[in-house]
Amino acid sequence: MKKILNNLNKDTENKDGINQEKIWIPPKIKNIRNFQDTIEILPIQLYKVVYTVLEKGYVDLNYISKKFNISQKEASGILEFLTRYRYLKKIKLKGDEDGWALGDVYWIEEKFPSGPVIPSIYQFNLISDIKRTSFFANAINKTVKKGDRVLDLGTGTGIFSILAAKKGGIVYSYEINEKNYRMAQNIIRKNNLQENIILKKEDIFVVDLEKNVEVIICEMFDTALVAEMQVQAMNKAIEFLKDGGKVIPESAATYVELVEFQEEFFDIKFPLIHYEAYGNPKPKKILSKKYKIHEISFYNKNNEEEISTSLKLKTNKNGRINGIRFTTDVYFENEKLSSTEWFNPPIIYPIRELEVKKGDEISLDLYMMFGAGWDTVEINVEGK
Ligand SMILES: C[S@@+](CC[C@H](N)C(=O)[O-])C[C@H]1O[C@@H](n2cnc3c(N)ncnc32)[C@H](O)[C@@H]1O
Repeated sequence: MKKILNNLNKDTENKDGINQEKIWIPPKIKNIRNFQDTIEILPIQLYKVVYTVLEKGYVDLNYISKKFNISQKEASGILEFLTRYRYLKKIKLKGDEDGWALGDVYWIEEKFPSGPVIPSIYQFNLISDIKRTSFFANAINKTVKKGDRVLDLGTGTGIFSILAAKKGGIVYSYEINEKNYRMAQNIIRKNNLQENIILKKEDIFVVDLEKNVEVIICEMFDTALVAEMQVQAMNKAIEFLKDGGKVIPESAATYVELVEFQEEFFDIKFPLIHYEAYGNPKPKKILSKKYKIHEISFYNKNNEEEISTSLKLKTNKNGRINGIRFTTDVYFENEKLSSTEWFNPPIIYPIRELEVKKGDEISLDLYMMFGAGWDTVEINVEGK
């Protein structure tokens, strides 16, 4: 946080306003630009207002209207808009005037499954999901060599840091959540590895990471990369990898299928998004093959943080479709980890019902913002 503020202080002095090239823009704040299309007349870029609030702690109407040379009405529209989307929150100032402070969209500790923080109550489930954890453990065992400097982003219980330290690595381990951090600290001490693991209670998006590391480990996955910030985390971290260094895991691919899922319970229809896990029923019918909608290598610099795609899916059965099933495969060198109970379990996303015949063509338009939660996903489906 301090670093951002220092950078902002420097950059806001530029006469053109904030120089986007020079500073690292937190991903959620960057995404504000996407909202611009939804406002008819926008006198200034919204993220500049958020930066101003970030810089000052709080603002009032007068301040924004003067700073950006806009009317109080325009300033109020913008502040209210950003409040509606939780980028800002309204506060009372002295004399009971309205003020605005930073809201909770970027800084919030969101609760599972909407990420990014996975509270300690679920961390045991992550560890004991043996299939998930073994893939990471095997990759760490194969990759980390004595003396390697390793980044572990989103350490949770510290499991991957401990495995890397046991292989002789010096691990820089980051955890944003206070409770998780204390839990990891305890576990690391119990394993007597505190000399080899430098554990930090920090938001990886705010601090500078260690440079020139040999290995980066990051498990901020959720199905289709939507609810957790794997893409943004690796976009930032990859700059800190040494030439020839390794990332764990390396890549991912996301697919969609047309399905009919059970939406009726007690004679009531519940067209709700849900994980195909935790005892929920599997889809009644899968009515198409899998279509790949996205592929990503975490070695790339500047991977796209959103996708907008259109595709035609062919049904392979007669029946009814009422959902899209999202699955994500993750690759560790050549080994593929498909969904497990706690690692990218398939997501069923409800769509309007369509009766279909085998061979029908269904058009799917899809927009997703990675790491921003399922509320940002837009899907439109048309029959042939
Ligand atoms: C899916 S859990 C993985 C935990 C552990 N690495 C494992 O695989 O068992 C992701 C972890 O990242 C942490 N996290 C999320 N956003 C973070 C951020 N911006 N900076 C640091 N840690 C973060 C969460 O609190 C959570 O503990």
